[in-house]
Amino acid sequence: MDPDARSRPPIDRDRLVGLLDGTGIDVEVLEQAGSTNAVAAERVRAGVADHRTVVLAEHQTAGRGRLDRGWETPARSALTFSTVLRPDVSPQRWPWLPLLVGYAVHRALAEHGVPSALKWPNDVLVDPSAPSPGTPGKVAGILVERVEGRTGPVAVAGIGLNVTTTADELPVATATSLLAATERAPDRTDLLATLLRTLVATHDDWRTSEEEWLRTAYQAACDTVGRDVRVELPGGEPLRGRALAIDHEGRLVVQGPEGPVRLSVGDVVHVRPSATQPPW
Ligand code: BTN
Repeated sequence: MDPDARSRPPIDRDRLVGLLDGTGIDVEVLEQAGSTNAVAAERVRAGVADHRTVVLAEHQTAGRGRLDRGWETPARSALTFSTVLRPDVSPQRWPWLPLLVGYAVHRALAEHGVPSALKWPNDVLVDPSAPSPGTPGKVAGILVERVEGRTGPVAVAGIGLNVTTTADELPVATATSLLAATERAPDRTDLLATLLRTLVATHDDWRTSEEEWLRTAYQAACDTVGRDVRVELPGGEPLRGRALAIDHEGRLVVQGPEGPVRLSVGDVVHVRPSATQPPW
């Protein structure tokens, strides 16, 4: 028997359907795909995917990350999936979506007893301040892409969450998995159901209300706020300063040498803590 079949069982589709009963969430599980974001976008353009459609790959071989980086994971070691969301809100509120997705992952992990924190805009870290036997680091990455569907724009929210990935398999020293960081990993089917329920509920609450509650909740979960940071900007000198807050548009407010600077997700290549703080 393939040892991975014991330690890395496949998603239990029948159980997943039961766990998602009544939510309207429809999950397509693929054995292998290049990028689930790309597959979900194709489905949207073809008119066969809409709000709450999910594409998951047991083995994602050419995953896409932010800033043209890649995201590949060994088969069944992670959860790699993309959810179609239709945020029927004003265009000014769209920049909140990547933050919302990160916040939903943070909430879902908490339901499974895993404390996490958010690195602005939406990296999910195993909480660096929590007592944890392993190495804290980035456990999940998120890529939200706007896609023009036949009946208007949708957001494809891609989430990659390392579950049982081992230290040898992780791409960089700052990455971790639930197993590597906490020495235990929730069942992927249970975790996926919690992630999807939380994501859709958070999105639906947000689109029908003001975003202030999300700003407050996100900021409380955000490990970047309050830290001294070095922000890499495209083609310019880095900005150094203290991260003060998240503003009402989801921007990071950094107190730089010449006063407060508001940074949008698209403005920033990287935000890092200053050298005296633990690495992200
Ligand atoms: C990042 O941190 O750079 C974002 C990584 C996002 C990876 C996920 S995995 C599922 C989905 N499909 C993709 O091609 N990318 C996202």
